[in-house]
Formats: sequence, structure tokens, C-alpha cells
Amino acid sequence: MVLENPFIPYLATLKSAVQLTPDVKLLRIQLESPAVKASFDYKPGQFALLSAFGEGEAPFGIVSLPRRSDGLEFAVRRIGTVTRALHELELGDVLGVRGPFGNYFPLEDYTGKNIVIIGGGIGMAPLRPVINKILEQRDDYGNLLIINGARTPQDLVFAPEFKIWMEAPRTKLQLTVDRGDESWGERVALVPDVVKEVAPSPDNAIAITCGPPIMIHYTLAVLRELGFKDNQIVTTLEAKMKCGLGKCARCNVGDKYVCQDGPVFTLEQISQFLEQP
Ligand code: FES
Repeated sequence: MVLENPFIPYLATLKSAVQLTPDVKLLRIQLESPAVKASFDYKPGQFALLSAFGEGEAPFGIVSLPRRSDGLEFAVRRIGTVTRALHELELGDVLGVRGPFGNYFPLEDYTGKNIVIIGGGIGMAPLRPVINKILEQRDDYGNLLIINGARTPQDLVFAPEFKIWMEAPRTKLQLTVDRGDESWGERVALVPDVVKEVAPSPDNAIAITCGPPIMIHYTLAVLRELGFKDNQIVTTLEAKMKCGLGKCARCNVGDKYVCQDGPVFTLEQISQFLEQP
């Protein structure tokens, strides 16, 4: 969709705010203009810039699926001024939205393949619409393995959806935390160790991973050890963003702008553009 002036945000209203973890809220917003609402199309992996008026603007992956009449959803972790202001919005308050921006997970290219999703902490946010899209079109894909880690059981961002994910056909969910508690009956282990233990096959498979940089670093090493090629591993890059439009040069990695060329890249693509002189 083409914005008339892409620097001017659309207005949206906060419809619901659900506390997912001690520091993450799921915000559901509705665009105010019916015309904008009708044309705001996006795919899993794309992001938007949300503005809390008077405080500033920050990028967030869109965690809902498009064309749902119930609005756009964002998992917002409270880590600074803008996110604090977004957490403090009341139902009915107005905020700004620019986007959708960036590329997306090319799920059409993954049809017929086994999919391995590996997410840590708030890194599950861009993976949630991928999972839900695959579940919505379950027959189009092979087996789905989800490995989801967090610091503690209370930090598992999409816990309310685990039952649906677990009960979906040909789908396995493996949960892990760094520190358990007396109620925790699942693994206490680091995500890369769980990937090594579960050892998904690289045959006809795609692995998609998002999370803290240290988790990604060791997870990529394990996936390579398991035989995944760099073009079978997909991740998202994070960068400081301002314009979202490839104009301000704040988000470059190598010769790419994360806001336009990314945030979704294969490991093969990342290796190529980081090697360039
Ligand atoms: S955020 Fe400005 S160029 Fe990417």
C-alpha cells in the first residue's frame, strides 16, 4: 500500500491491552479510517512504527494475521520511553501507525516443507503470525516443530496459545526456560541445547529463528551441525530504525537497509552482504 505521505502516521484506537508477561503487553489497535483499514495489507514478518504522541515512535513486528476484522496486534515489551507510554495507554486512546514496512517470511516458498520455528523471549513476536498462518493452512506444510524458550515460565510470551499449537495436527511444541519454578514441569535448558537434543532433520526443512543475539548465535551453530544449509536458515535482523523508508540510513547492515531489504533474511544472504568490502 502507498502512503500519501509516509512520514505522517495513520490514527488508530487502542481496543484491548492484555498483559502477556510481567513486561510485555499485547496491544490490539483499530485503524480509524475505513479506507486505510481496507487497504492496510501485510504479511507475517512485516513491521510498523507505532507512535505514542508526545513521546516518540518505535518499530514493532505485526503479530496478527492480515484481513482479520479485529485489528492489528503488537507485542510490546516495556523497555524505554515509547514502550512505557504505549503500555500506559487506556482503551480508546489514540496512537499513530506507519507501515507496513519491510519484507516478510516467504511462506509460499515453504509449502510442502517441514518447518522448525525456534524463538526466545520477545523474539517469538514475529514468529507468532508465521505459526498461526501455517496452522491456518495446515495441509500446505509438512511437520511443524516449535521450540520456544524464555528466562522464566512467566516470560513465555504466547503461553495462552500453547494449547492450540500443541493440539494442531503434525505439530510439536517444545518449551524451555533458563530458570524454572516449582510449578514448571517442562525443560530447564538453553534453547540451543534443546535444538541439539531434539535434533530436527534438515531434510526438506526450513528453520526460522528469532530471539536474543546470543541465542541466535549458538542456535545457528547447532543448526549447521545438524546439517542445515545457510539457505535453509531464516532469521530477522534488528537495527535502530527511524524512517522505515530507506531514507535515513540508520538501519544499515552491510549494504542493506533492514527497514526495506529486511528484516527477514536467510543466513546465506546475511553472510553474503556482510562479506562485501
Ligand atoms: S530506518 Fe531509515 S533507512 Fe531504515
